[in-house]
Amino acid sequence: MSGKSGPDLRLVDATALAAAADCLRGGSLVAVPTETVYGLAARADSESAVAAIYRAKGRPDFNPLIVHVPSLEAAEAIALFDDRARKLAAAFWPGPLTLVLPLREGTEITPAVTAGLPTIALRVPAHPAMRALLEISGLPLAAPSANRSGGVSPTTAGHVASSLGNRVDMVLDGGACEAGIESTIVAPRDFGWSILRPGPITEAQISAAIGAAGDGMTSTGRIEAPGQLASHYAPGKPVRLGAVERRDDEFLIGFGPVEGHTNLSATGDLAEAAARLYACLHLAAADARPLVAIAPVPEVGIGAAINDRLRRAAA
Ligand code: TXA
Ligand code: MG
Repeated sequence: MSGKSGPDLRLVDATALAAAADCLRGGSLVAVPTETVYGLAARADSESAVAAIYRAKGRPDFNPLIVHVPSLEAAEAIALFDDRARKLAAAFWPGPLTLVLPLREGTEITPAVTAGLPTIALRVPAHPAMRALLEISGLPLAAPSANRSGGVSPTTAGHVASSLGNRVDMVLDGGACEAGIESTIVAPRDFGWSILRPGPITEAQISAAIGAAGDGMTSTGRIEAPGQLASHYAPGKPVRLGAVERRDDEFLIGFGPVEGHTNLSATGDLAEAAARLYACLHLAAADARPLVAIAPVPEVGIGAAINDRLRRAAA
């Protein structure tokens, strides 16, 4: 493949999906759109395919990966579900929720996926391209976000190509991702549950799905996922948060009334802001100005997940 100028970029259609499934069966890497961000997929039952993910991303250590499966049934073959996990799956799958659950013994999942942990992160995605790949390949697919480690996550095929280049064999182009930030990660605990990573499904939605606080339910809200490094999603320049005015050497990402060089959502819509977040950070990274400033975003609903990512982008 020497001399190739970039990855094999294909619009999603039946031919491209069949080719992508072949690629995955052969142990290659395919970037695929999901409803959250683009994922860098590899077969989760192959040690060498999973090692290729870590290599392509340049992950400094072996952070465990999320495994994507087509159904609750497929998920239950890999992990142990309790009543709460089943309720969460019923409420939010297919969709942007990842459950961290005890790993069953003797599954086909290669140990590098879980980085040796006794638990596994599982998700049934909603995006038709990812769903089709799962069906056609018949494989569980490990898929972290399709960007170099620590960089801004990709919400378009172009973001993937510019971050990973030839490190990915094929990129399926399904347009811009709808939610725009990574799935909410939840771990049921002996007593209650924890959000390991805030995301499109809010704490209030999770509370509503698995019962009132009278169940002894608690949510620490603490970030415990080992991949939740302080510095992440970084545009490669210093980032100033809470900016309400423009400064000369800054690229300002606005929100609501704070006008910027670009805007997360001029009308102050948080879902739109989440969907545009990484695209705005990519714009800031590509701009000639040496600094990035970002307007305040309210810590409400999905705003919690947006601010989580912004704090890491600024760290
Ligand atoms: O929306 C998403 O979840 C995207 C799309 C592609 O599906 N995927 C994604 O994967 O964000 P990744 O690898 O970038 O994030 C995986 C996160 C990390 O924070 C990792 O630490 C956590 O999941 N994780 C994975 N397995 C875990 C486990 N057994 N226990 C706790 N955290 C785990
Ligand atoms: Mg990531």
